[in-house]
Amino acid sequence: MANQEDRFKKVISHAKEYGYVFQSSEIYDGLSAVYDYAQNGVELKNNIRDYWWKAMVQMHENIVGIDAAIFMHPTTWKASGHVDAFNDPLIDNKDSKKRYRADVLVEDHVAKIEGKINKEIAKARKRFGESFDEEQFVTTNPRVVGYMEKSEIILKRLAKSLEDEDLADVKALIEELGIVCPLSGSKNWTDVKQFNLMFGTKLGASADSAMDLYLRPETAQGIFVNFLNVQKTGRMKIPFGIAQTGKAFRNEIVARQFIFRMREFEQMEMQFFIKPGTQKEWYEHWKEERMKWHLSLGLGEENYRFHDHEKLAHYADAATDIEFKFPFGFKELEGIHSRTDFDLAQHEKYTGKKLQYFDHEENKSYVPYVLETSIGLDRMFLAVFSNALQNEELENGTTRVVLKLPSVIAPTKAAILPLVKKDGLPEIARKIVEDLKWDFNVQYDEKDAVGRRYRRQDAAGTPFCITVDHDTLEDHTVTIRERDTMEQKRVPISQLKGLIKDQVEVKNWLMRMRS
Ligand code: GAP
Repeated sequence: MANQEDRFKKVISHAKEYGYVFQSSEIYDGLSAVYDYAQNGVELKNNIRDYWWKAMVQMHENIVGIDAAIFMHPTTWKASGHVDAFNDPLIDNKDSKKRYRADVLVEDHVAKIEGKINKEIAKARKRFGESFDEEQFVTTNPRVVGYMEKSEIILKRLAKSLEDEDLADVKALIEELGIVCPLSGSKNWTDVKQFNLMFGTKLGASADSAMDLYLRPETAQGIFVNFLNVQKTGRMKIPFGIAQTGKAFRNEIVARQFIFRMREFEQMEMQFFIKPGTQKEWYEHWKEERMKWHLSLGLGEENYRFHDHEKLAHYADAATDIEFKFPFGFKELEGIHSRTDFDLAQHEKYTGKKLQYFDHEENKSYVPYVLETSIGLDRMFLAVFSNALQNEELENGTTRVVLKLPSVIAPTKAAILPLVKKDGLPEIARKIVEDLKWDFNVQYDEKDAVGRRYRRQDAAGTPFCITVDHDTLEDHTVTIRERDTMEQKRVPISQLKGLIKDQVEVKNWLMRMRS
């Protein structure tokens, strides 16, 4: 656990030190759960967004994109169910006056029990050495079996009381488990209450005529309300999709995991409109397709898993999460939801307008069903960034910090380094920069010894370093050093563009989805 925490702290400090992510309004001591993307961060974020957009929109003839406004007519959120049902169960500690998510308090309690299980496993592994069989141990050791049963009972009861909206039972569970406030150590709890996660604001100048608005908590509704506009103007035939990326806002109460859970974040969503009755096959299709997209980036198959939902959101008839192994364990990265006709039917009801599709093959109109893929851009950023950050032991006994970002999304593709700041080498290096910058984001760096410059670029995530030395003056060749293997090759300057392009081109990475 301490190890995980240390690793996560390193991710956060590296993100700051190398210009990826800053705390918002840091000089005012920051704003909780709000972050700014810095000079490298914005490039990485743009590249991830672009990689998603190309895979979803450019590569699918039947998927188009839109960019809907953040402000929407407030009735949208009544229709979507967010006004009534987009809530978290909260509880206050009367002594510390601190507010918590009641379900998270219980889940943290269960995590402590799981910590005890892990300790027992570690102890037994030490005791039995090579012959240790973990599976047999966890299914037979009475103490571990007891802990596991206890965790399961607690989580089942929590799920049931949340499902039944029995908030009194959630409080009773907290009391029975003897959960104390992490700050005051007291058990002096208020009742559990539902708290709506939407941020409200006002449209209009005068107090009496102002209209209550919400900052959208998901981008999806901007797609639903435009469904017919896009279908008609784009002459789209079912099945077809509408994709969108953009900001969403949620007044998260538990927001302590850096950019994993933010109050202002960005989503990349796609609603796929289908014939009712075909949702199961499209659900399976998009599960597979989205997993392939993730795997194409090469972060390691073992770092992903599906987690099917037992408790479904108010709009879904099936749902799964693609979970990723973040530094703090497996957590949701993307959601795939079979949303039925809930949203379109609700908007029909609240607007009194038909949101139907005339199916020429079936010769009838219907409200389409919807399959949604929804991924947090910031979470994807954290997945990529935390996976990439490595402390590597080298053969000569030294270590290096290296950010092994997939080169297709790395902020800077190559750094051009004159070996020394004289003898005409900087001029050649500048010329290479001038030539390459039309195609790639490249950087010129002449400060410090070349070894230090390599380390700096390794830590910043730059996949290639190109060094101009005295031989370059004679034969117009340079060395190109690869970040991950540290291998160096001598190549003619004229071949640089082709070599880099081959490694960073979106096409070459997305093609992996087909293998
Ligand atoms: N339209 C469906 C929807 O919004 P969701 O599961 O609530 O579903 C989808 O959110 C994705 O958005 C999540 O899988 C996660 O990646 C991202 N997300 C949700 N809340 C977030 C937050 N507070 N901070 C960062 N990302 C968040």
